[in-house]
Amino acid sequence: MTDDKKRLIKKDDEKELKNIHSSIKNSVYRDYFHISPLTGLLNDPNGLFFKENKFHIFYQWYPFKGLHGLKHWYEVESFDLINFKNLGLFLKPDKIYKNRGAYSGSAFVENDEVYIVYSGNQKDENENRIPNTVLGKYENGKIIDEKVIITPNENYTDNQRDPRIYKKNGFYYLSLGARDKFDCGCILIYRSKNIEKDWAFFGQLEVKGFKNSAYMWECPDILNVCGKDVLLFSPQGMKSKGEFFNNIYQNGYIVGKLDIENKIFYSESDFIELDRGFDFYAAQSFDNTKNSYLIGWVGLPDTIYPNDKEFSGNLSLVRELKIKNNKLLINPVENISDLRVEKIEFNSLIKNIEPLEIYVENIENSFKIKIYSQEKNGGFIISFDKNKKEFKIDRSKLENEISKEFGHERKISKLDLKSMRIFVDKSTIEIFIDKGEYALTSKVFPKNKEKDLYIEGLDEKNTQIYKLKKSYLDNFSLNM
Ligand code: FRU
Repeated sequence: MTDDKKRLIKKDDEKELKNIHSSIKNSVYRDYFHISPLTGLLNDPNGLFFKENKFHIFYQWYPFKGLHGLKHWYEVESFDLINFKNLGLFLKPDKIYKNRGAYSGSAFVENDEVYIVYSGNQKDENENRIPNTVLGKYENGKIIDEKVIITPNENYTDNQRDPRIYKKNGFYYLSLGARDKFDCGCILIYRSKNIEKDWAFFGQLEVKGFKNSAYMWECPDILNVCGKDVLLFSPQGMKSKGEFFNNIYQNGYIVGKLDIENKIFYSESDFIELDRGFDFYAAQSFDNTKNSYLIGWVGLPDTIYPNDKEFSGNLSLVRELKIKNNKLLINPVENISDLRVEKIEFNSLIKNIEPLEIYVENIENSFKIKIYSQEKNGGFIISFDKNKKEFKIDRSKLENEISKEFGHERKISKLDLKSMRIFVDKSTIEIFIDKGEYALTSKVFPKNKEKDLYIEGLDEKNTQIYKLKKSYLDNFSLNM
């Protein structure tokens, strides 16, 4: 780890971080309604839970630069899943068992207690990694009674991380994403009668009916959506296949039935990508909510973004999950419409756009929408070819390129497109198709002159455009 990635946050860093924050706060790439890092870099959503009318959201955070440095956790709160407020630093990697980062983890709410479980990433003097699993309790924005509950499993490689806890018939179970010694991605299961101690290795989860080609599974999460079990994970090493799996790493799910007492997940669907856009990873669901909500990182590992010098990464809109024919329906939370402040008059060319929503119904024709274009040219292009039944997003015409080795286009074919919602933020675009059939999330970094919206093939009667308000407060708060 280079020196600029190694900084642990200290009390007297507050002034410096405050300065960084005020310098990036007005960046042209600072989103209006997506959670962004206070400073530095944000990656995975962590520890999502709901308690006493409040949603708690955390993220992986390197405070000092837009780099994957020494990971801390930062907390954000929300009462409605659309307005967000920065709370403060939650975890720092200040102990030997996490000397190289407080890595990803989750929350488990039981009665009045909120447990936080995460990966303590440790390295010894010879740079050997020691993956620890750490448990503590959440109390007023701080972690208390923290201890290592699981030490490395010698029968696997040192890639064992991202814990999540489940309960069944008096037993607690804990899953970890892992890479075995034959370079196969998998999930390890631990079990205990007492959540705070006595965790023992229970075995590897067998995912029946799934042909695995990934070398590592990150961020596993098993949730129940409308009575069906859904196994969510972020596999690394899957080969791209036509229009599928074209990002550097994937994030997807399998619908089925979990029999945790026998360590089996019976697949009833293929592995399906959660999102068909360019940048979406490490999604996690909330604990202790009636509906199933999920948030992803709008970004990917091992990827450089054009604004990393200022800050890097953001979280996706909160998505509500339903299930239909063994496939998730993925929509932004219903009250997202509360972000609308003003209807914009329809025009084929709208100049100088600010964050907005484009809502289209009863689609009957082919169309092209160019977001952040220069007059009628360029931009992030969303198109639909009615004859070919092909939906595409293309970011090749934007001047700031991202990951061009992974292609500039993503496509959904065989689509009878009927409706669509597009959320355009300063540097994030999220598209939801046919009431949740597909979601496509992408980063964009338009230059100053790339600022118009051009629409071809859609008309006023089926298209509504709304200006959206700032709902991410972007206040400076460290609370150390
Ligand atoms: C996924 C991930 C996790 C890890 C964390 C470290 O993006 O690699 O597996 O815990 O990020 O920041």
